[in-house]
Amino acid sequence: MAQNGTTVNGVSEGRPAMPFPQPVKVQEIRHNKIFINNEWHTSIKGRTFPTFNPATGVKICDVEEADKADVDKAVEAAKAAGQRTSPWRKMDVSSRGRLLHKLADLIDRDRVLLATLETMDSGKPFLHAFFIDLDGSIKTLRYFAGWADKIHGKTMPVDDSFMCFTKHEPIGVCGAIIPWNFPLLMFMWKIAPALCCGNTVVVKPAEQTPLTALHVGALIKEAGFPPGVVNIVPGFGPTAGAAIASHMGIDKVAFTGSTEVGQLIKEAAAKSNLKRVTLELGGKNPCIVFADSDLKLAVEESQKGAFFNQGQCCTAASRVFVEESVYQEFVRRSVESAKNIIIGDPLDPRTSHGPQIDQQQFDKILELIESGKREGARLECGGVAIQDTGLFLQPTVFSDVGDHMRIAKEEIFGPVQCIFSFKSQQEAIERANSSEYGLVAAVFTRSMDRALAVTAALETGTVWVNCYNALHAQAPFGGYKMSGNGRELGEYALAEYSEVKAVTIKLSETL
Ligand code: NAI
Ligand code: MG
Repeated sequence: MAQNGTTVNGVSEGRPAMPFPQPVKVQEIRHNKIFINNEWHTSIKGRTFPTFNPATGVKICDVEEADKADVDKAVEAAKAAGQRTSPWRKMDVSSRGRLLHKLADLIDRDRVLLATLETMDSGKPFLHAFFIDLDGSIKTLRYFAGWADKIHGKTMPVDDSFMCFTKHEPIGVCGAIIPWNFPLLMFMWKIAPALCCGNTVVVKPAEQTPLTALHVGALIKEAGFPPGVVNIVPGFGPTAGAAIASHMGIDKVAFTGSTEVGQLIKEAAAKSNLKRVTLELGGKNPCIVFADSDLKLAVEESQKGAFFNQGQCCTAASRVFVEESVYQEFVRRSVESAKNIIIGDPLDPRTSHGPQIDQQQFDKILELIESGKREGARLECGGVAIQDTGLFLQPTVFSDVGDHMRIAKEEIFGPVQCIFSFKSQQEAIERANSSEYGLVAAVFTRSMDRALAVTAALETGTVWVNCYNALHAQAPFGGYKMSGNGRELGEYALAEYSEVKAVTIKLSETL
């Protein structure tokens, strides 16, 4: 299986012993409305939008479409829920942690259903959703549940006549704009730290994949979160998303998606109320394979990095630099491995490669593949669509890729592995860093000295050594350069969701 061994949030994804978990038959979608104040609402404008199964092109259901007026209503609810005298703000902090644990328990209880919904809505293979997305979501909630009663301030020594300390307080209403590639996991990456710090949230799932977020709405109510603490507004980017970014009542916005929209969000934040912004954007991630590496491991991990989630990952290993002496062998093995990937119905637990999310992404990927061929890269395998229905693309490997080509510079967000050859360590580092992005990088070598030297030189927020996509709730995640601002996960995320208040007390008595 192509992604055998992928680890995300510490979950080892491999084919489990028989019997595999199986998806459930979903007869009807129970939650397709706007979630505000722990209640289901129809859209103020009376609009709905369809969500489709990308594997079949068939509509799953219509969803109530939130627009600016619905966002206003959600913000009002979130503001009231976060008032200083509200049950949420007055709740003792360990109880906040208990609520997050309870939500994790309920997600675990509904794990098969949530994995099935995620597969139907996004096209990702069921076992990937079941093991990686669900485990990652549960672990993220539990990790931040543990922080809820450990958000400490500090005491600062000044001089004897003053007592000076800090308190970490919630920021207020936090907006979250979620992408379609990891709909449930990104939802958790945003709400878990926000809630553990005592904020309230207004979340907009991606228009392609609203279903798991809405199911979680029902679980949030069942877990016992006070009304208005979490509000979910399914809708489109330029309407509901833009309303969040420019809202005067929202104090912070966290976004994962394209660099282009990230720029719009920062601009809207600046022009409205200077709300805080954290951004997780694109990547053109280098994966450097030295001749002294375990080649089998490097081939497997870098290909997993390229093709995992149909290549629809900001962390995709889209530039694989291989040392000249092992280049030909590396390409040969990568092509053989790409040809063995099991493509098919993502609800079939044997499948490891599903469809792309939508026609727009599908066309963008095919156009970039064409540009690669035109610009002289060598198409080793794939490069074509494989079925009449659905948006399936053959995993594609290009060798002899030049740094000037579009496929070497632009985020493809599809199952396209680009393999480059290099001669020296210095050259590999320079080429790896010559990108406007700086999200993640990987290094494959048996020499720890080399691994650490190269790691120090790489301009990325994450470096993986002899592994790929090894994400953990404990480790911060975010980008250098145009890959974003701020960090999600880990203790670092707490700072993105709290205000710091310095309190200085003049003492009337000193000894
Ligand atoms: P996008 O950036 O348009 O969508 C991501 C989220 O932003 C969605 O919830 C969308 O509704 C929202 N959005 C769109 N326009 C907005 C606006 N003006 N204001 C506020 N929110 C807005 O990404 P899209 O169009 O789905 O994909 C385009 C490319 O972006 C992909 O090919 C890929 O290169 C990149 N991308 C990166 C992701 C990542 O994980 N970093 C995730 C999704 C896309
Ligand atoms: Mg877009």
